[in-house]
Formats: sequence, C-alpha cells, structure tokens
Amino acid sequence: MSSCIHHFLVVFLVFVCFILDPVDAADGPAQKFLLSCGNQKGGADADGRKWEGDAKFLVKADRSREAKADMQDSSLPSEIPFMSARIFNAETSYKFAINGSNRHFLRLYFYPSSYPNVNISNSYFALNVGETTLLNNFSAALTATALSQAYIVKEYALAPSDLNDLTVTFKPSDKYSGSFAFVNGIEVIETPEMFDDNTGMVGFSGDSGVTIEATKASMETMYRLNVGGQFIPPTNDSAGLMRSWYDDTAYILGASSGVTNAANTTIDVGNGTAPLAVYSTARTMGPDPNVNKNYNLTWVFQVDANFTYLLRFHFCDYLDQKVNQRVFEIFINNQTALDTMDIIGLAGSAGSPMKKDFAILVKDNKGDNEIWVALHPNVSVKPEFYDAMLNGLEIFKLGDSKKNLAGPNPKISDMMQKQIDHNTKDFGSKKSYKSAIIGGAAGGAAAFGIAAGLIFVINNRKRKYPGQDSVSSWLPVYGHSHTASKSTMSGRSHGSTNISSDAACNCRYFSLAEIKQATKHFDESHVIGVGGFGKVYRGVVDGNMKVAIKRSNPSSEQGVNEFQTEIEMLSKLRHRHLVSLIGYCEEDNEMALVYDFMGKGTLREHLYKNNKITLTWKQRLEICIGAARGLHYLHTGAKYTIIHRDVKTTNILLDDKWVAKVSDFGLSKTGPNMNQGHVSTVVKGSFGYLDPEYFRRQQLTEKSDVYSFGVVLFEVLCARPALNPSLPKEQVSLADHALRSAKNGTLEDMIDPHLKGKISAECFKKYAETAEKCLADHGTDRPSMGDVLWNLEFALQLESNLENPKPASNKRSIDLTDHNSIMAMHRNTLSLGSEDIDGSEDSEVFSQIVNQKGR
Ligand SMILES: *[C@@H]1O[C@H](CO)[C@@H](O)[C@H](O)[C@H]1NC(C)=O
Ligand SMILES: *[C@@H]1O[C@H](CO)[C@@H](O)[C@H](O)[C@H]1NC(C)=O
Ligand SMILES: *[C@@H]1O[C@H](CO)[C@@H](O)[C@H](O)[C@H]1NC(C)=O
Ligand SMILES: *[C@@H]1O[C@H](CO)[C@@H](O)[C@H](O)[C@H]1NC(C)=O
Repeated sequence: MSSCIHHFLVVFLVFVCFILDPVDAADGPAQKFLLSCGNQKGGADADGRKWEGDAKFLVKADRSREAKADMQDSSLPSEIPFMSARIFNAETSYKFAINGSNRHFLRLYFYPSSYPNVNISNSYFALNVGETTLLNNFSAALTATALSQAYIVKEYALAPSDLNDLTVTFKPSDKYSGSFAFVNGIEVIETPEMFDDNTGMVGFSGDSGVTIEATKASMETMYRLNVGGQFIPPTNDSAGLMRSWYDDTAYILGASSGVTNAANTTIDVGNGTAPLAVYSTARTMGPDPNVNKNYNLTWVFQVDANFTYLLRFHFCDYLDQKVNQRVFEIFINNQTALDTMDIIGLAGSAGSPMKKDFAILVKDNKGDNEIWVALHPNVSVKPEFYDAMLNGLEIFKLGDSKKNLAGPNPKISDMMQKQIDHNTKDFGSKKSYKSAIIGGAAGGAAAFGIAAGLIFVINNRKRKYPGQDSVSSWLPVYGHSHTASKSTMSGRSHGSTNISSDAACNCRYFSLAEIKQATKHFDESHVIGVGGFGKVYRGVVDGNMKVAIKRSNPSSEQGVNEFQTEIEMLSKLRHRHLVSLIGYCEEDNEMALVYDFMGKGTLREHLYKNNKITLTWKQRLEICIGAARGLHYLHTGAKYTIIHRDVKTTNILLDDKWVAKVSDFGLSKTGPNMNQGHVSTVVKGSFGYLDPEYFRRQQLTEKSDVYSFGVVLFEVLCARPALNPSLPKEQVSLADHALRSAKNGTLEDMIDPHLKGKISAECFKKYAETAEKCLADHGTDRPSMGDVLWNLEFALQLESNLENPKPASNKRSIDLTDHNSIMAMHRNTLSLGSEDIDGSEDSEVFSQIVNQKGR
C-alpha cells in the first residue's frame, strides 16, 4: 500500500469490512463452525469472517440465556463475537456433528465484562469436551485482570475420537453460590492430524528414548510465535486453520535478542505446517562469531506446572546453501534436546521448511514455572558460521493421565483483588458501567485500540508485572495481542487506598489539606489544563516547590483505575526525561496526583502555537534527543517494556531549563461514552501519529512509538501539525507529505521558515534520514528508539562541529573520524547509565521523595 494514502485508506477499509458482504478467506475443505453466542443474528468480525447464532447447537437451551455486554472495551477487535454472551446457570452442552476421526481446533472467546443481572466476578466454571477437562473452576475475569486484557481466547487441539459428536459442556462451579458460566464465541475447525507418535521426551535420548503418542493427545495451545517476524492474523494462516501467530520479541531473555531477517529467495511451503510468512522470517544470533560463541539465544515462557508440553520448532534455512554451514544445539530447560541441529541437513535442501518436535515435563517449581528454550552454535562440529536460527515456535500443553488440561487461575495481587471487589460492590449501579464505556459503536473503530495509555508487554526477562506477585503470562498466544483498557473494570473509590505497598514506598503521600493549600482550594485560576482524568492545577508545596496536580474529577466514576495505574507505574519509573510523579493523595473521595511542574509547557506550543519564542535548531535537536532518551528508557530500561502509545508533541513537556520530559504514560485516556454515540473524537485523538502497521497486526510494539516519534521529528522540523485538514489533500498528513517530499527531494521546502538556512546540510541529512526511517511502513524496518537516539546525537554533533569547531565543554567531545569514539558514544547512549536516571537537576525532586513528610 502506498504510504501516501495509508492512513486514510486503512480507516476506510476498516469500515468497508462492515459494509460489504465479507468474503470468507478461509474457504477450505475443512468443516468449521463459528458461533456468536447469545446473538442469533450472527454477523462478521473484523477479519470479515461470518459468525452464526448458537441456539441451534444447544442441547437444552432453556438452561441458559442471552446477554449483551454493558460496555465495549476499546481493545475489542470487533463487536462479533464479544459483545453478546450466553450465560449458563446450570450445566449445558453444545453439540456439533463432526467427523470424529479427525483432530479439531476448538477456540473459545471470553469477554469478562459486565452483563445485566450477573456479576462477572462470580463466574467460575468447568468446561469439558467428552471426557477431557479443558477448564476447571475457571474465572475469565481473574485471568483477564491478571493479563490486563479485556478479553481472552483459548485454543485447544482436540484429539480424534470414536464419536461423531463434539459435545462441549459448560458447568458452573458448585463451590460458589450464584456462580455461572458464560461464553461469547465458539469456533470449531477440523484439521488434518498434525502431530506424530514418536515425539521424543527431552532428557531421555538414545535407545532408552521415551516418546509420547501425540496423535492421541488433546492439547491446549500456549504460545504460537512467528519468530523474527510479525503478527499473522487468522485470515492469513495456511490451510484455513485460522491460527494467530504472534511476534516473539516479548519472550526473549535479556538484551541479546539476536537479529531478525527475512528471506529473499522463494520458499516452497510444500507440506509445511506453518504459513509461508513464518518460514520467510527468522531470528539468528548475529554477525559476530565470537559474540555468538558466548551467549545463548534464549526465550522464556510461563506455563502451568505438572504438565507435559510439546514444543514444535519451525525451521527454514534460506540464508545458507549447504550442510554444515550453520549447526547449533537446542536446549530446553537446561537439557540438551538436540546437539546438532543442521536445518539444511535435516530438511534436505536450502529453503525447505521443516519442523522438529520435543516434549518436556515441567515440574512444580514454587510457582516459577517456565520453559526456557535456548540455541547455541555447536562449535565442535566446526560449522562455517557460528550461528543459530529459528523461524517459528509453538508450545502445546498436553492433557495429563486424567485427561485434564485445566490449570489454576492466575494469582493476582491484593491490589487487583481490591479492584475486583470494587466492581463487585458497584454491581447494580448501572450508571458506573455506562460511564466506563469506551470505544464506540463501530466495531472496526474499536479495533484501533485508540484509548491511549500504556501497555506492558510482560517481558520474561523482566518477569514481574507491576503490583503482581506471581504472574502469568502463561496465557497463550493471546497474551500480548491486545491491551485492555484500564477502564474495563471501573469502580469508584470509596476512600480506601488500593496502592500496593511497593508503590506507596516509592511515592510520597500528600494529605488533602496539603493539596488544597497548594492549589488554593482548587482555585480555577490555578487550572493549567484539562485531561481525561480531570483538571490539572499548578500549585506550590513545601513553601517553594512548584508542582502540577492532576485532580480526579470528583464526579468521574472511572478515575480509580487510571489513578492506580499511574501510581503503580510512575512510582517505579525514574528518569531525567520522564515527568516525575512526586506523590499522590487519596482522601475523602478525592484523588490527586502530584507531578514535577514543567515550566515551559508542551513542545507543541513552542513550535506553532503561541510561538512567542522560536526555538533554535540546536534547541530543537536537544529536545528531541531528550524525548528519545525518555522513550528509549520506557522501552528498554524499566523493569518491563512499556509502550507509550500516545507519543506526540503535546506529551513532550519542557521544564524551566528546556529539558524535555515525556509525559502522560500512565493514564488510559477514555473516550466519549457510548450513550453519546460518537467515536470520531477518539479516532482523531492522535490520529496523525498512528502507526499504520498497528491496524494490520493488531499488535502494538515499541515500533509503534518509533513511528509516532518520527512524526514528532518532522513536526519539529516543519513546525506544522501532524494533521492539518485545512491544507490541500496531499498535504493533510504530515507523515505522508514528508515521506513523499523526501522521496522527491523537496523536503527542504517544508522546513520551518524560521530554520531556513540555519541547519547544516549534513545535520539535516542525518536528521531527515532518521525521521524517514521511523516512518517505515513495517515496524521491523524502523530503527529502535536506541538507534534513533544515537542518530540524533550524531546529527547534533554534526551541527555542533559546524557551529563551534571546539565543542562546548558540557558536551561530550567526540572526534567523528574516530570510529572507536563513535562506538563509545553509542554505548553510552544505550547504556542508560546512572547519570541518566539520577540526573543532577532532579535531585531536588529526589530529595522530596526521600523525605517522605506526609507519611
Ligand atoms: C507431503 O505430503 C504428501 C502427501 O501426504 C506425501 O506423499 C509427501 O511425501 C510429503 N512430502 C514431504 C516432503 O514430506
Ligand atoms: C504438582 O504436583 C506436586 C506433586 O504431586 C504437587 O505437590 C503440587 O502441588 C502440584 N503443583 C501444582 C501447581 O498443581
Ligand atoms: C547455554 O545453555 C546451556 C543449557 O542451559 C548451558 O549449559 C550453557 O552453559 C549455556 N551457554 C552459554 C554460553 O550461556
Ligand atoms: C556438538 O555436536 C557433537 C557431534 O554431534 C556432539 O558430540 C557434541 O556434544 C555437541 N555439543 C557440543 C557442546 O559440542
């Protein structure tokens, strides 16, 4: 798709999906059922797949009822099948006539939202298919909360049986009174047998080998990754199997993530069990044999204990030509699964797909149940390259001897439990749900997930999730696809403090009296802005310290979760280029967050709004570098990877000394509620900054921030808004206009007139190149925030050299002809040394935090 139209076209397409009769992309011979539960009209989902009503598959329909969700979370990809549910008060089955001698995929869609006359947090149930237990005492609400997702999808690969009926039975738990079962969507797809009967157990090799009969096993899909590649939506899967393949980056251990690459030769998928897109991308260790010799390329996965797992590795070596060029060992949980993996040797030729299966038992290990997969070159066989390669990886959980696949519900922290309790208390007051509605009536628009805020990719190298004891990114495949809006479960604070003790320790507590004093009783003259959360006031605390105070609108019913998220997140993030949270107040139904005051306001107002002072080019570069550092820290420096999701010039603030600070990365912005029935404002929000690939992948990565930052870079250069509808059509979108101009060599015509003739040619070239790369259509082609940072620093050096042959003393002096010193600079930039985090200018703030007066 030509980049010049992508923004608008994508939006257009999303809506077209709902207007045109969708073509079923998965027309294969396989039998399939797609049931939109509790919705007899059926309809199409965001991928254009048609779903039908579920009633005719029910064995005893009178034991259940249909329900509509009270609110639509913005992260739902479409209304179908999520917005309607079937609710079961007693054991009830669905029956499908199938060819039992084949394997079937069963996918279950759960949206644990609020439904009339039930309390979703009371829902605990079992799910059986024939004699196999898939779920037991399952709480979709707890699972979704722990994953911070609005909905969950579970996938099972059911073993062939003698029966020609597939009976799926929902049974409310009898442990709790008032318990019920529910489901939003059911998908049954027939598939050829894809497993083998001689899958070796790791740790039992050689003649004494132990194998499992995988063809007789029912399994749950835990993870399905397109390693080194991008999200593959169900409609792009092979053989109409409708599997989703996820990006592997979130599972990579440590900083050594190898490199990704894509095939430029043709690959014959042949009997391959994965789609072409899986085989044509891979992750390898990197170009340096000495580096590769000394590390393992490692992925880590959370799983349930006491189960056997089948790991399927997908390989296709399109980089080499012959045997013994790339030979590596495969380790699973520290045991050697295979010591000489030579893809070409085993596949028979270059560019041929192949798979390799291993099974492993994961024993209970004090709640830290993980599967580690590690690759390392086998140097003793002297391959030509010391490197390893992986194209795809699937992990399936096998039913145990009692035909059980059910694991425990995830453990959730006290804070999350309290959130759920809040919702329980609020149950019955319908008003609170309605005000929590975000997103909009058009399902397609909801898939944008526009609600800004943050998403944490639960990163295994940084295992812990904020405020959680023992986390569970175990939930499959689906673990990273969509972000739940923090307002999914909204409750009103009743004055109780739900802040985890960890966060509370990092953060000062202010009494309401202090806040009132600081803001002169919330005097209107102190208001400096209004956000989704409520008004923002300027104030002074401790005699002379200027702060910004965000006050939760007392009539807002949805503040509490945002409030907690912001505190939990921000109290753990400290960086010179992130706006600091100083403390919070929660008293008498009042909630307020206290931040460092940013004397110079937003970057945007210094570019083309008010424009009282024109920033020099060097100042602009320094601001961009600061913001890039803040984002780089969010992506890599914090305990968990944080994606800002709403990078724009109004979220880059400037302090009194023009130091750039990234802000607003803790608040989910909530859109207008559905009663008012318009979503356009939500979509417009940060529209000019939106990563086009986000639509295609439905998955946010750090690279979405890189894209938005690219728009910011052009905004800084051209001093015009990201979207300006008053301009001629081809200039409306800054990103498109800039890319086209860059291509035509006319970018210089777009430069802010104030800067004309004031930027050195080399600096301009470097800067423009960097900005352009950020706007690459595919995330994988965009640089990382670290690279962007380095390039901007380099651009600044080029400019400084020109302006001032002897660099100013407060700048790192660097000889650009000296490769080593450039590399050293690169390392410094990337290492996020302590100077970054405890920046001297922040010491005032730090001492404020350390001297916790109010507590
Ligand atoms: C592909 O499948 C066909 C039919 O099952 C089989 O005859 C053929 O040998 C397979 N080819 C490979 C390369 O495995
Ligand atoms: C795993 O099995 C062991 C031994 O039977 C048991 O003590 C442990 O509680 C089990 N763990 C889980 C998570 O079920
Ligand atoms: C790679 O992993 C294996 C298995 O855990 C371990 O024995 C080996 O020491 C690791 N190698 C490196 C270089 O870390
Ligand atoms: C490498 O491969 C050889 C030959 O199969 C094997 O003997 C050896 O154990 C493997 N591993 C290492 C670390 O050399």
